Amino acid sequence: MEVIIRPDTGSATELVARLISDAIKSKPDLVLGLATGRTMERLYARLTQMHKMEGLDFSSVRTFNLDEYAGLAPDDPNSYRFYMDKHLFNHINIDKRNTFLPDGSAEDLDSECARYERKIEEAGGIDLQLLGIGSDGHIGFNEPLSALRSRTRVKALTPATIAQNSPLFDDPARMPKRAMTMGVGTILDAKRVIMLVTGKSKAEVLAKAVEGPITSMISASALQLHPRCTIITDEDAASCMSEKNYYRWIFGNEPEWKAYHKI
Ligand code: F6R
Repeated sequence: MEVIIRPDTGSATELVARLISDAIKSKPDLVLGLATGRTMERLYARLTQMHKMEGLDFSSVRTFNLDEYAGLAPDDPNSYRFYMDKHLFNHINIDKRNTFLPDGSAEDLDSECARYERKIEEAGGIDLQLLGIGSDGHIGFNEPLSALRSRTRVKALTPATIAQNSPLFDDPARMPKRAMTMGVGTILDAKRVIMLVTGKSKAEVLAKAVEGPITSMISASALQLHPRCTIITDEDAASCMSEKNYYRWIFGNEPEWKAYHKI
């Protein structure tokens, strides 16, 4: 695991946008794992801008989202499919037939989860998985006690997640209490993982995930097992970590980061 600390939300987001853009340029048919949430809105706005201003080409990219609310149809304004169309897919030259999310309106959710796993496999696996972190340490909707080898399945959401996300619903009581999510094991199978974390409210949980023991109580701590995982954070979200000087040294001195110093 590598931790990169940038001064503020804007520069952390810009760095992640550049890494994604470079990954697409070096593999135009990249299989990109996507997340939703407030943190990603800025990133998707920036990727949209890169498409419009710099011609970043998504025409051959395939995407798999981490999760979807159980019971919400794709055209529901609170579904993650709707979120993805609104914040990214409607503004770039991606072929929507190459964009995949679990179908929250499927009759048999367990079969839908198994189908989703197969789809990922058929695509050759995920090249680059983008992640955020929830206030309870979840990645995707892998709530505390998610098995570290879990695959895509239905998961009951915690009160913390319901409190975090229900304000995004017009009627907070309408927020589903269950979701379909890639498992921790599914995420760990991605060839590369980048987690973007911003803001003071994430500082404590991020320090536990990065510097604490690996535990199913904090699913993000499982990323310590991944051979190529980069956490990109702003100073606020980094504030509770103890090895910040080492992390800063990495960005300042390791050759792979030289090209990104001007961001
Ligand atoms: C949603 C997802 C979640 C979010 C996390 C942070 O697809 O993957 O794990 O990344 O809940 O959400 P925000 O950015 O709203 O704090």
